[in-house]
Amino acid sequence: TPMLSLNNGFTDDDVEAFDRRARDALGRDDIEYCAEPKFDGLAISLVYEEGVLVRAATRGDGTTGEDVTANVRTIRAIPARLEERVSCEVRGEIYMSVESFMKLKAEKEQENVERAESGRAPVSVPVNPCNAGAGSLRQKDPSITASRDLSMWAYQLGEVIGGPQFTSHHATLEFLSALGFPVNPEITLVDSLESVVRFCNHWKEHRHDLPYDIDGVVVKVDRLADRERLGATSKFPRWAFAYKFPAQQATT
Ligand code: IVH
Repeated sequence: TPMLSLNNGFTDDDVEAFDRRARDALGRDDIEYCAEPKFDGLAISLVYEEGVLVRAATRGDGTTGEDVTANVRTIRAIPARLEERVSCEVRGEIYMSVESFMKLKAEKEQENVERAESGRAPVSVPVNPCNAGAGSLRQKDPSITASRDLSMWAYQLGEVIGGPQFTSHHATLEFLSALGFPVNPEITLVDSLESVVRFCNHWKEHRHDLPYDIDGVVVKVDRLADRERLGATSKFPRWAFAYKFPAQQATT
């Protein structure tokens, strides 16, 4: 299954238009949504065979990504062996916490002071947690990845063989949690557009209260049969929408 991107917008009206399109296409008004933080990290696809991690890949062009299995095996939050012997694909976001990023940045800056004193060229300093996380995952030497404090939020269950079947997204998240994956505690099942908009505006105001970076909210139709009916364009699914926060400004 290709790793698609998300249709997105920046305003309450954009979210309202997404809800209207979903209701029109499904011919119903009672749609439940899962509202989730949009984690600012690196998308990952994890393949397990009979409960054992066999492959981890980045998104790349959506069909072919980079094989980062050896590096992913060093991340403690990602189970090498699941609680059940199922074969499945799990998707999520790998990220570095703000605290770990600040520590890494300070270390690199200190290293550069020492290098400058001895006339050596500086090493690169990560500019934000997303950049630091992606750089840490793409190291040629897995022991460097192991030394960086990376973590993961699981947000999507792909194909499952030899496990239960599901009718809703929130039930798949509970299953992912039972398998041993970190599932974000802020994810909320809501039953109205008003609650979706409230969730979006809450996190726009409180994004910096979280110990990790988010750059928006992802709104997903919860019922899996509805997702089938809504389908996807060649670029993004019609059952999900990303409400993006305005870009952050900082002095360079
Ligand atoms: S679902 C087809 N849920 O956003 C839908 N994606 O702009 C698959 N992302 O590549 C994605 N948080 O890396 C989903 N809670 C979340 C997410 C999330 C961050 C990223 C993901 C994706 C990108 C799309």
